[in-house]
Amino acid sequence: MPYIDLKNVTYTYPLVKEPCIKDISVSIEKGKFYAIVGANGSGKTTLCNIIRGFIPGFYQGEIEGTVELEGKSLEEYTLGELTSKIGYVFQNPFNQITGARDNVYEEIAYGLENLGVEVPTIRKKVEEVMELTNTAYLADKNPFELSGGQQQRVAFASVLALEPDIFVIDEPTSQLDPKETERVFDIIDKMKKMGKTIILVEHKIELIAEYADDIIALEDGRVVKFGEKHDVLSDLSLIEKGIDLPQTVLLADELRKMGIPAKEKIITKQEMIGQLKQIMGK
Ligand SMILES: Nc1ncnc2c1ncn2[C@@H]1O[C@H](COP(=O)(O)OP(=O)(O)O)[C@@H](O)[C@H]1O
Ligand SMILES: [Mg+2]
Repeated sequence: MPYIDLKNVTYTYPLVKEPCIKDISVSIEKGKFYAIVGANGSGKTTLCNIIRGFIPGFYQGEIEGTVELEGKSLEEYTLGELTSKIGYVFQNPFNQITGARDNVYEEIAYGLENLGVEVPTIRKKVEEVMELTNTAYLADKNPFELSGGQQQRVAFASVLALEPDIFVIDEPTSQLDPKETERVFDIIDKMKKMGKTIILVEHKIELIAEYADDIIALEDGRVVKFGEKHDVLSDLSLIEKGIDLPQTVLLADELRKMGIPAKEKIITKQEMIGQLKQIMGK
């Protein structure tokens, strides 16, 4: 049984004519890492909001088709049940900070406090997620005085503290530099190793090629390709659909045109290095 199952989902925002999500069917398996890719306006954020049950609830509009979590329609869950199962990380970490607490430790503890969790349990959990996100050294700092990357790690820690099984993460690195971006991917990788199901919207295709399992490629509200990352990211026809492909895919294609027999579906630098060594007989 799929973990999250979308069948023929079509969604139209209020006051517009054309649906922005068109007949999408995808099955999400537990414990896998999915990346959603597509040009701006292709429906990535809307799809995230459908998966986390905020559409049609908050946004209204008209939805057709079915969305199920563990065999039960999302409509049958309360909002509280959904938010405890599905954690959401914002694009801009600034929007995730509650402002209700003036240091990082308390900011991360805030959600657990609201749930009435006992103080020793909170302390243990907060220390655990601070370790995981490398934020312990920021414990006494004001969350609003952190760098973007530090804020994003605190945001991840706050969501992780609540122990959701599923993480929906919408462009978490768009405002971060390469080093901070690597740190965020490192956290996501750890989450995956903890058995979490991850649905990530991200443009940095080289990092997706390295870390994700499966890719959902969108164009204009439709899924144009869905499957294992090697199959999806080596499909050159995605370029005209506004989807970036890894540099190694383009390089392998050039090599083939030059008569050098590069293997199909090389999507990471490491795979390309292996291939070049083989070609050069090393
Ligand atoms: N609240 C809204 N009302 C009407 N149209 C919207 C709303 N939010 C997004 N859209 C439209 O839906 C389409 C998909 O948007 P979005 O899901 O944000 O795409 P992406 O995240 O891929 O950039 C776009 O054409 C956008 O203009
Ligand atoms: Mg978006």
